[in-house]
Amino acid sequence: MRKVLLICFLVASSITGLCFADGDLDMDLMQNIEDLNKSLSSNLSLKDAKGSTADAKELNRLFITVEEHFVKRGDAQNAVDLSKKSKDLTVEIINAVSANKFDAATDAATNLSRTCRTCHTFYKKE
Ligand code: HEC
Repeated sequence: MRKVLLICFLVASSITGLCFADGDLDMDLMQNIEDLNKSLSSNLSLKDAKGSTADAKELNRLFITVEEHFVKRGDAQNAVDLSKKSKDLTVEIINAVSANKFDAATDAATNLSRTCRTCHTFYKKE
């Protein structure tokens, strides 16, 4: 009986091992993105160039990681494209802010938030 239990345990843990290897997106990463996105929109509404630029740069870096995740997954071209689009939008925000065009930057930020939702509709498990 003990042996059977042990085997069950081993099988179960190797199955969970496989699930982890398949690689869900790191939740801390998305939580970071969420916090930065909020901070970015409040910095934009305050016309805080320094803060907005810092947030957008950090978001840009994190979306590179998101993109790599979905490239590795291999079956999620749509998500790869949406990560790229998010990255491009953060660059747009940085450029608009440095040209002191806060309206354009805010439009890009609105677009970015829409991109979050699009990707979640397809790829976020409930
Ligand atoms: C390319 C796809 C993609 C984009 C773009 C994306 N996300 Fe996500 N996000 C996901 C996936 C997938 C999950 C769920 C991960 C899972 O279930 O393994 C998730 C989960 C989350 C969560 C839940 C985390 C938790 O702890 O439960 C938050 C919050 C979040 N995303 C915020 C954002 C925000 C804000 C943006 C845009 C600035 C964004 N995401 C852009 C794919 C994306």
